[in-house]
Amino acid sequence: MASLKQRLEELRQIIRQHDEWYYVHNRSEISDAEYDKIFRDLQNLEQQFPDLVSVDSPTQRVGGAPLPQFQKIQHEFALLSLDSEMTEDSVRTFDERVRRELDQAHVDYSAEPKFDGLSIELTYEQGVFVRGATRGDGTIGEDVTHNLRTIRTLPLKLKEDTGFPTHLVVRGEVFIKLPDFHQLNQRLTETGEDTFANPRNAASGALRQLDPQITAKRSLTLTCYDFMNEGEEKPDTHFDAVSRLEAWGLPVPLIRSHCPSIHDALVFHRDMAEQRDSLPYEIDGVVIKVNRFDWQAQLGEKSRSPRWAIAYKFPARKELTTVRAIAVSVGRTGALTPIAILDPVDIGGVTVSRASLHNVEEVARKDVRVGDTVKVERAGDVIPDIVERVEVAGERRTDPFVPPDQCPVCQSHTIQEGPVLYCTGQTVCSAQLKGSLEYYASKGAMNIDGLGKKTIAQFVDEAIVKDLADLYTLKKERLLELEGFADKSATQLIEGLEKSKQAVLSRFLIGLGIRHVGSHVAKVLANQYGSLPKIQEASKDELQVIHEIGPEIAASVESFFQEARNLQVIQRMQDLGVQVEAIDVVAEVSQKPLTGKTFVLTGTLEAMTRDEAMQKIEVLGGRVMSNVSKKTDYVVAGAEAGSKLEKAQTLNVPVLEESAFKAFLSENIPSTP
Ligand code: IVH
Repeated sequence: MASLKQRLEELRQIIRQHDEWYYVHNRSEISDAEYDKIFRDLQNLEQQFPDLVSVDSPTQRVGGAPLPQFQKIQHEFALLSLDSEMTEDSVRTFDERVRRELDQAHVDYSAEPKFDGLSIELTYEQGVFVRGATRGDGTIGEDVTHNLRTIRTLPLKLKEDTGFPTHLVVRGEVFIKLPDFHQLNQRLTETGEDTFANPRNAASGALRQLDPQITAKRSLTLTCYDFMNEGEEKPDTHFDAVSRLEAWGLPVPLIRSHCPSIHDALVFHRDMAEQRDSLPYEIDGVVIKVNRFDWQAQLGEKSRSPRWAIAYKFPARKELTTVRAIAVSVGRTGALTPIAILDPVDIGGVTVSRASLHNVEEVARKDVRVGDTVKVERAGDVIPDIVERVEVAGERRTDPFVPPDQCPVCQSHTIQEGPVLYCTGQTVCSAQLKGSLEYYASKGAMNIDGLGKKTIAQFVDEAIVKDLADLYTLKKERLLELEGFADKSATQLIEGLEKSKQAVLSRFLIGLGIRHVGSHVAKVLANQYGSLPKIQEASKDELQVIHEIGPEIAASVESFFQEARNLQVIQRMQDLGVQVEAIDVVAEVSQKPLTGKTFVLTGTLEAMTRDEAMQKIEVLGGRVMSNVSKKTDYVVAGAEAGSKLEKAQTLNVPVLEESAFKAFLSENIPSTP
């Protein structure tokens, strides 16, 4: 029995470690299939020996039936809120008061982003997560333990031997990352449910679900910024306290700064304001905290907020403006997107004059009409959104927006599928054609140098390119006759097209723009079938058998390759010299020759791009990492390799130069039976 217990604990430990790497540090050390296998082994063992299932087992994240209601929980320590400041002057005033009250010439601060989510409290007993609660009114919150357990970044168990207190109360923020938020809204749109106006509402909705199964699907995440223990168990400063949380295995703000003076905290705020739009999550300011705990205690608290910390908020990113018109744009799939043309308005330093209304159903739901006053929000790096229409007393409104029954670009008739209106023009619709060409040429697909939006518009408008294959009929002399082309740009485009003729299978698949086939699905298909003809022949039923390919994707792939026009275009592309590279398919993950081996690429390779090198390694089961560590198996060094090569040499990691790498790859290509 002892060894069975040991085996179970060992499997759990392996999964915890991979979860931490994957969810907290964005790093994967094993393939999904290997991870799934370990997870299944653990699940099987636990099913056979249910008495040995522990609450902190990774299999226990989503368990239990929906609750009838949430239990109330009395917080051990009240959850305070923060006073907000909006200007540099008021932050300086805060610092002056702090220094005066402490009678200090210099006070250092700890500064962190202010995450725009929901505050929560987590309790760990003997290192095991036992309870989690929402803030509630600060004194009494709701027990959301079951939902918190589904958050993959929340450790169900703290790291062994890291000296955590036996009873630990952690404070943090639950939120949803922007890509997950958009995916969630997309899913809700597809199933005809109401979408969330912003990530904060989405996180709140997910955390307050009575059914943890639903919460689990909403990809919440978490960051921790404090713990409530006192005395010996707490270090002297806030900054060190956060490092301690990190050492125990809890997720903490990756960006944070120890600021020797208020000046540095102001600089941090400025930096964060600049970075704000490129962060994958929403922040609404910076929290500035007196770093020393003894000073915090000396400053004390008001009834609802501490006197030792403030939230220095960013300017609001919602503004009111007027809708001048509702235009409709047509995308590569033929989807018609209504766009509100606005009176230009400055939102957090950016002038906004257009906002997406997503689809015709959304226009109806929000009842936005020309002339209306609307609240516009700019969230992260996304296109501005209309939050809601604002009622203006005594206003006279225009007629409701009428969904067009004709495509505004090609005049083909439109059809509605779910909430979305589509143009039925397909190849005759120049907007769809432009979209498909842009997509084919884009970085994520064929990455064709010199083929940007403007050039494509010119080709389509002048009827030089009528489908993907026409791209490969372009000649330099013809380009030179066009406006805007000079010898250099024409050569660049011809060379870019020439290069793209040696097409990597997965990228070519992405480029075709098949509905539901993005980069992940394309890789799955490429690895499964190995060649374009095999994918073209695959039936819906056959495709569906593949793990990760559902009925919708399978149907879409099948119908794409059944369409005679698509096949003709692909055939013409091939006749014009496009060669879609076949790859060797290795059936079983564990049999792949490079399974478990990690590579780091550095410098420039002559015979292949970095993406191609990565693809070659991945096809053989290897993984490409960005940083060299002791665990790296090989560093592939091209010309002008820099610090990564040096690091490999210091750590004695084997280095493969380009010729050796090529030889290495061919040695490892398994012979086909
Ligand atoms: S410290 C007594 N740090 O902001 C100090 N709060 O308006 C209390 N928040 O309820 C919190 N990021 O939900 C702190 N890095 C951060 C934060 C943060 C977000 C939230 C938290 C709190 C609210 C206060």
